Amino acid sequence: MKIGVIGAGHVGLVTAAGFAHLGHSVIAVDEDQTKIETLLSGKTPFFEPGLADLVCEGTEKKRLTFSTLISDAVTFAEVLFICVGTPQRESGEPDLSAVEKVTSEIARSLSDYRLIVEKSTVPVMTGEWVKYTLKVLSDKEVSFDLAANPEFLREGSAVYDFFHPDRIVVGVETERARKIMEEIYHDIPAPILFTDIKSAELIKHASNSFLALKISYANALSQLCERVGADVNLVVEGVGLDSRIGKAHLFPGIGYGGSCFPKDVAAFLHLARSVGYDFKILKAAAETNEEQKRFSLEKIRKGVWNLKGKTMAVLGLAFKPDTDDIRESPSVEIVKMLLAEGCFIRAYDPAAAQNAKDALPEITICADPYQAAKGASALLVLTDWPQFAKLDFERIKDILLMPVIFDGRNFLPKEHLRSLGFTYLALGRT
Ligand code: UGA
Repeated sequence: MKIGVIGAGHVGLVTAAGFAHLGHSVIAVDEDQTKIETLLSGKTPFFEPGLADLVCEGTEKKRLTFSTLISDAVTFAEVLFICVGTPQRESGEPDLSAVEKVTSEIARSLSDYRLIVEKSTVPVMTGEWVKYTLKVLSDKEVSFDLAANPEFLREGSAVYDFFHPDRIVVGVETERARKIMEEIYHDIPAPILFTDIKSAELIKHASNSFLALKISYANALSQLCERVGADVNLVVEGVGLDSRIGKAHLFPGIGYGGSCFPKDVAAFLHLARSVGYDFKILKAAAETNEEQKRFSLEKIRKGVWNLKGKTMAVLGLAFKPDTDDIRESPSVEIVKMLLAEGCFIRAYDPAAAQNAKDALPEITICADPYQAAKGASALLVLTDWPQFAKLDFERIKDILLMPVIFDGRNFLPKEHLRSLGFTYLALGRT
């Protein structure tokens, strides 16, 4: 199948390279000239495990090409996936102008049947606007179909998720579109759920919002555990063992972040408001997420007394491990709160250092965790990179001014740290 993927970001590039690996011929388009030049030179524009090899394989086998022109994709491909960003506006509403722009350009280049697929995360009813735009701007003789195929890729494991999804959701309106989508995903061993377009659009926001809700539930439990002296890690383990609930996304911490959950929850709330529904349960999830960051700051204060003028060693700035992405990172938000309290920050992150340097010029980025810890009043571990649980904590204790550790992800070896004489602070762990 000949496929065009428009937007070569975290979703589009993984999707394009994944389709190429499956044997399709793919052209990936992005208006960012620098990004396309990077890709043409054999490099990937951001860090995602396994992606560089996949892109390399696709280009070497000549199944993956790149362009800055949407018209190239429309000419070449029978199926066009829209994978552009839908950033959040002040009101919480997603900004769909990139989706509109791409749709308009596709419409103007259409000269033969094409299947246009929404993969960008969009609110329900976007499909209606996409169809309207295609109809209004394209030649009346040309036919097209629309499909909605939301993505469920997690950053850090997006390549794995592409080839091993729990399900593939496809909203279609015609048999022709359904057959094309079946052929595209033929070699992926996952159930395909065919729905109407609106339901497919809704499934994406409903899934991300439910996962955010689950995390906030775990975070709320951590506050209860804190107050009664129970261990939230054991509580969520016991709860998650119920197969109806499941363990995934039930880990408490400093709050969820990233380019998806905060934005998608806000967008879903906005949508509910706009159709006259007060989505109370989801509002509470978003509030709990904000609260968890404030609770974290208070917990840190408990360990060191006054914050003003103190140096804090921060490990982890990415919004989660295995990514260099710091968008909506709760670690970054906590760093900002500490800076506002008058702290100095010495930070280390295995992948996000460069991005953090640009976003937080006032902090000192260190080459390793020990350099960050040297002379600091406390060690704050804010992203659960697995290597942080295996540090030489005896060495850390020697170089910190005060033996205080805040574990913002409840994953460090609590007993070991306490046996070394650390004041170990976490969220809902006694
Ligand atoms: C999320 C969804 O998991 C994907 O299915 C979806 O495709 C993607 O958004 C998207 O819409 O594009 P992602 O944002 O990459 O993926 O990351 P997650 O692994 O879901 O984590 C999100 C945030 O929740 C992170 O800050 C993470 O640290 C936090 N989290 C996750 C917790 O605090 N506790 C958990 O138990 C799980």
